Amino acid sequence: MQQKVLDKFHELFGADGDIRTYFAPGRVNLIGEHTDYNGGHVFPCALTIGTYAAARKRDDRKIRFFSINQFSKGIIETSLDDLTPSDKAGWTNYPKGVVWAFLGRGLKIDTGFDMVITGDIPSGSGLSSSASLEVLTGFMLRDLYGLDSVTNIDLAQIGQYSENNFNGMNCGIMDQFASAMGRKDNAIFLDCNTLAYEYAPIVLNGYKIVVTNSKVKHSLVDSAYNDRRSSCEKALEELKTVTDISSLGDLTEEEFEKYKGAIKDETRVRRAHHAVYENRRAIKAVDALKSGNLAEFGKLMNESHVSLRDDYEVSCPEIDVLVDAAWACDGVVGSRITGGGFGGCTVSIVADDKIEGFKEALTKAYKEKCDLKPEFYVVSVGNGPVRF
Ligand code: GLA
Repeated sequence: MQQKVLDKFHELFGADGDIRTYFAPGRVNLIGEHTDYNGGHVFPCALTIGTYAAARKRDDRKIRFFSINQFSKGIIETSLDDLTPSDKAGWTNYPKGVVWAFLGRGLKIDTGFDMVITGDIPSGSGLSSSASLEVLTGFMLRDLYGLDSVTNIDLAQIGQYSENNFNGMNCGIMDQFASAMGRKDNAIFLDCNTLAYEYAPIVLNGYKIVVTNSKVKHSLVDSAYNDRRSSCEKALEELKTVTDISSLGDLTEEEFEKYKGAIKDETRVRRAHHAVYENRRAIKAVDALKSGNLAEFGKLMNESHVSLRDDYEVSCPEIDVLVDAAWACDGVVGSRITGGGFGGCTVSIVADDKIEGFKEALTKAYKEKCDLKPEFYVVSVGNGPVRF
């Protein structure tokens, strides 16, 4: 892949000068869904698939972008003096937003650049292709402009900031953090309230993480996401009238049951119920993994799915078919929807020798019930961004 971006760069922008190549990964979240913007915990890991770039600084203020995956859009040009989001900028709104956020932090970028990207994260799969592009851009800017004071956690925060304020998607910190801070063979247990984090080795003795792509993505995802987020914020305001908390992640299950009467709307009670219980499940799941109790980890994954389906209402019929079929399979310890929802992928933990049977069973059920064909990835957990 890095050779592919480099070749394309040479073809479009010439081979002279200091051309550098970079990679930043996508992510899959194991448990702790829709908890990041609620001050809770998440447990994602970086993948070995992601986004690649070749880039070179320019002498003027022009910026030129090209995506091999979206080649029909051609070269998209902008400049350091024109960093505003626009529909016609398409995918380049992500890297543009990151440049804008760097400048907003007072970081010095005084010349433009040329950038060619490609990626192997299936688009719309919910494996964070946009976060990987944001982290990739930040990592590239730090390197090209010698901005050594910027840490990888800064890269995650800058990515999230630009997505919230430049691209209008009020995401939490999870995806960018997982991409920027990924570590091979480890998942990241992150407290999104404090950004305290810990790496937990993925030791699955005879089991693997299997991602199943439903290949459906329902429309209005961003607005439904922002809507869930504001319901939780409203519920938090209501809870604050009866207890001294700063986020839903501050509550135990018992405390929530005690105070939930303050929430004046049944839907909001269910949204907040999910956020509180899911946060507790993430904490318990990491303990279970550390003590080698994979069965407990799987049970918590399954409960997570039920809660996302019934209380948070971010699943969809296609995903439920895949999860139900997984639950019915031999050798599956747990299965759930992963990521923002409304389509995308499921994540399952499957015994090594049952993976083929798992694929067959899900393919059959998905064909029968939805007339669709899923795709499967047996996950390798990878590192954060690199320059080659
Ligand atoms: C999307 C967002 C994340 C997180 C997940 C749900 O991936 O970008 O911040 O909220 O949804 O857990």
